[in-house]
Amino acid sequence: MTASVGSVFNAVLDPVNRHNPYPLYTSLRRTPVDRQPDGTYVVSTFREVADLLHDPRVSSQIDDGPDADAHAQIGLPPSFLRLDPPEHDRLRRLATRPFGPPHSPHRIDDLQPKLEDIVARLVRDLPGSTADLVDHFAYPLPVLVICSLLGVPVEDEPKFRGWIDTALQSIDPRRARQEQLDAAHAAFRDLAGYLGDLVDRRTAEPGDDLLSALATDDGPDGRMTREQLISTAVLLLIAGHETTVNLVANAALVLLRQPVWLDRFLADDGLVIPFVEEVLRWDPPVQLLPWRRALSDIPIAGTTIPQGASITLVLAAANRDPREIPDPDRFDPERRHIRHLGFGDGIHYCFGAPLARLEAQVALRGLAPVLAHARLLEDPPVYRMSAILRGPRHLRVALD
Ligand code: HEM
Repeated sequence: MTASVGSVFNAVLDPVNRHNPYPLYTSLRRTPVDRQPDGTYVVSTFREVADLLHDPRVSSQIDDGPDADAHAQIGLPPSFLRLDPPEHDRLRRLATRPFGPPHSPHRIDDLQPKLEDIVARLVRDLPGSTADLVDHFAYPLPVLVICSLLGVPVEDEPKFRGWIDTALQSIDPRRARQEQLDAAHAAFRDLAGYLGDLVDRRTAEPGDDLLSALATDDGPDGRMTREQLISTAVLLLIAGHETTVNLVANAALVLLRQPVWLDRFLADDGLVIPFVEEVLRWDPPVQLLPWRRALSDIPIAGTTIPQGASITLVLAAANRDPREIPDPDRFDPERRHIRHLGFGDGIHYCFGAPLARLEAQVALRGLAPVLAHARLLEDPPVYRMSAILRGPRHLRVALD
């Protein structure tokens, strides 16, 4: 007996399947746009996911329901991740001014020497005989980088790590219990209070960082309000490291499990760019986007998503759709065209993609020589709980 597709998606969300959801995604794709028993829709094929990411009838905006209650409890407006145009576009333009082209074309490229220093230091400080490549490398790297970019003191990491771990429980598609939600909202409030104090300090005494620039920069769109700036800071701090940690860890796992690529990688410096893209396709750090809603009836793939329905876009399933990607389950950075939705697409396309790419490339160049002398101690590794931000929680290796 085959399971109904509704139960396949439930199995995707079940932590017991976190180490390998890909066979489940193959089953999901048999029904490209599938209505779940709770009336939500799960979309899993490349063309359909890409189309919906570009469709103005699909909203990311929080209007009512549990997410609006959550924001009311946290006391902050939604960040631009959860807004539609025109406000999304205005806030994203404001956030882009100090971050990238055309206003700040060198901000990310200029980080390269600093990134190389951080990577060299983390590699040098790896413990002698066994190491956890998440705790000792993949996690501290993006934290150090996003803190330095935003102007958040990295000494405060133990404080905000706890808040963020608790807060992220509330974004998973499986509804958390009420006490978990309450704890998550309290954690968001603490994080917002902390970043609010920092914003006030940077406004009074601006430095050479993103928060200072956002607090003081008067561009054609005006300034963000203090609350909008705090929401943006929360978004950038979380999105800036909770994703990249998975990219670096997933990439390290490929190199450890498929030594043929490690040999090629060490022999050819140019392989790092397609290698990172292939990891973003084959094992993406953000597996699914559960926060879309249909603004009107949307006919698609032989069915109609009704107005008001919630839509989950499964990026990781789309990235392995054989109708778009030949031999999709094979990891091959030398394939002719690497197409993926690892950074999403359309108006919400990842804001931090240039930074994430650079971080991962520098990280893997620095880590690959270490991996040549490393052996996985646990395979499959322990995974993080989240079905959205999927990646190893630990990656323990023995080092010769
Ligand atoms: C490998 C690392 C990363 C991955 C895989 C990733 C993935 C994504 C994806 C899939 C989206 C689309 C969300 C949606 O459509 O609802 C997104 C949006 C976003 N990402 Fe990333 N991200 C990464 C790193 C970063 C970094 C380093 C930053 C910050 C510096 C960042 C900031 C953002 C922001 C602000 C958005 C919202 C964009 C918008 O709504 O217009 N991301 N990211």
